Amino acid sequence: MYDFKIDADDKPVMYRDLASALQGLVTGETDPIANMANASALIFETLPDVNWVGFYRNVGDELVLGPFQGRPACVRMTFDQGVCGAAAKTRQIQRVEDVHAFPGHIACDSASNSEIVLPLIREGELIGVLDIDSPKKARFDAEDEAGVVKLGEILSRVL
Ligand code: SME
Repeated sequence: MYDFKIDADDKPVMYRDLASALQGLVTGETDPIANMANASALIFETLPDVNWVGFYRNVGDELVLGPFQGRPACVRMTFDQGVCGAAAKTRQIQRVEDVHAFPGHIACDSASNSEIVLPLIREGELIGVLDIDSPKKARFDAEDEAGVVKLGEILSRVL
């Protein structure tokens, strides 16, 4: 049983503990679906004020829904669609304070107001993206970005 108690008061400490818990969850497991499933559950359980955490996989230059926590979501996006598409196309992390002001944002859950999307890259190949949504505007700051990048470094090795 995995029962991580991660204190969310101090963000850098929280992300350090989250990264350590994530590393523990994926170590020794090579199945990407299992690792994405556990990672989305761990992140969803740990981060305050999030309503959707999950993966879109790069399948033939299209983003296809992978394991996630939250409401059912749109299944496919092109690289020209949504915040996820922008992350895939530019290979740059996207931190969006107000998704309603983002051209082409795809509203899978009308409760989402801000989000952060990290491209996952291994040996130059785009594996997919990690998408984290929040009902709070401007939920994600530079500390979240740094923490999410660390999570991505762990995930890219095991997906
Ligand atoms: N917000 C995303 C769409 C996916 S859902 O939010 C899960 C986007 O515009 O990229």
